[in-house]
Amino acid sequence: MRFLIRRLGRTLRNALPVLLILLPAAAACQNRVVINADLAKDTISRNIYGHFSEHLGRCIYGGYYVGEGNTKIPNTRGIRNDVVEALKKLRIPNLRWPGGCFADTYHWKDGIGPRTKRPAMVNSWWGGVTEDNSFGTHEFLDLCEQLGAEPYITGNVGSGTVQDFAQWVQYVNFDGVSPMSALRKENGRDKAWKVRFWGVGNEAWGCGGNMTAEYYANVYKTFATFIPSSWKAGSLWRIASGAGSSDFHWTEVLMRDIPQGLIEGIALHHYAVDWNHKSSATEFTEAEYFETMRRALEMEDLVQRHAAIMEKYDPQKKIALVVDEWGGWYDVEPGSNPGFLYQQNTMRDAMIAGVTLNIFNHHCDRVRMANLAQTVNVLQAVVLTEGERMIVTPTYHVMEMYAVHHDALLLPVTVAGSKYAMGEKSLPAVSVSASRDRSGATHVSLVNIDMGQSQDVVVEIHGAAFTSVSGRVLASGKVQDHNTFDDPARVKPAEFGGARLDGTTLHVKLPPCSVVVLALK
Ligand code: AHR
Repeated sequence: MRFLIRRLGRTLRNALPVLLILLPAAAACQNRVVINADLAKDTISRNIYGHFSEHLGRCIYGGYYVGEGNTKIPNTRGIRNDVVEALKKLRIPNLRWPGGCFADTYHWKDGIGPRTKRPAMVNSWWGGVTEDNSFGTHEFLDLCEQLGAEPYITGNVGSGTVQDFAQWVQYVNFDGVSPMSALRKENGRDKAWKVRFWGVGNEAWGCGGNMTAEYYANVYKTFATFIPSSWKAGSLWRIASGAGSSDFHWTEVLMRDIPQGLIEGIALHHYAVDWNHKSSATEFTEAEYFETMRRALEMEDLVQRHAAIMEKYDPQKKIALVVDEWGGWYDVEPGSNPGFLYQQNTMRDAMIAGVTLNIFNHHCDRVRMANLAQTVNVLQAVVLTEGERMIVTPTYHVMEMYAVHHDALLLPVTVAGSKYAMGEKSLPAVSVSASRDRSGATHVSLVNIDMGQSQDVVVEIHGAAFTSVSGRVLASGKVQDHNTFDDPARVKPAEFGGARLDGTTLHVKLPPCSVVVLALK
């Protein structure tokens, strides 16, 4: 007997290395995805892929705008050519400006006319720096024209007047004879820009005025009444300052108290951050990574619950849910101004972007616009600059890969699969969304947030047949990997060879911590 036990022990010991090698493969259990192409009905608005640029840190100044004078950086009317070129590849559909918290301190008339005569102000929310107003309405709308993006202007409700706001709309949108259109012409712009998207304040519950929902609803109605929607062909969107994350009361009150004819959108802000413990952007533990992903995935529940409230009052879905601030928020880069919110961007951010955009795609019937915070040098940026140098981040690559979903028909997807676990907690490891574009091509975006395990995914496709699959993958050795000014292409997409089509079934092997976008034809 003793001999037998010893022999069993020896056999197990000898087999251990083999078991250890086999274990990860065995643990990478299957994920079953069904794409119901036959149930498609909603279109993914390209505006879900919008961006946000605030007068904050080096987003505007140094990021986009270097001025026309004393600079070696190639620019067009003061706007950096390299940044515009990079962003054009993302086909940015809309750009939100000038804030953020800054918006409720901003007086637009200070930012028009000859630059030497523009008064300066203090950017009280962001570093207390002097804002010289050299980048104002004309410069922003020039930037949007260079990018081919629709402008989304947030007006000042917190410290501005109804008259100021109404005049701004008149200045920008009115083609007829009026004091504001005359002023615009005097400042060199003959034709009105016809801006469609207008935010009525920002975070009115916080930096926008510390209002209650009930109070803001009344303030909103006054402002919205004097923003004439007729100054834009089609309808102008008045977007109410919305809830912070899970403030469902805010959405309920706004939907209850604001008459439908006065509102086209209601905002929601949610950052993937633990406010009590922001980690380093690049040197984080797996536990910190897991927590960021948990917060990012909360977006699913938040969108569902805010949308359910909206559904009660607006079952015809006339009012859009506009997630006009989302992304990761970490400690600022060591040595940088804490008020500038400058952070690096790693594969963790690529994961946030991939899963969040999949969530928005799924809910495109209600989420018809969203804005990643923020485009250049601030928070989850897609572009970073340092003097004359510019790099793109892992988040940039996800945005570029996902551009195939712009204005495509959402193909509903169900995912049943394995979990990415940490202690007692677990998260869905795989996130998927799919769409068919106008040329008939189907695209499937898949994310594996598990940083240790690859995931085998079996995708059944109902209601469509394909003969070829190709794709690209964004992955890297470590979740902390990122691009730097000295190593700008460390993280970049590559051809993906891990997908095989077998009739109407697709077999995919997702590497750990990866984003894959497949094209099926
Ligand atoms: O994006 C940075 C800040 O976060 C914005 O100014 C504000 O709206 C939010 O709290």
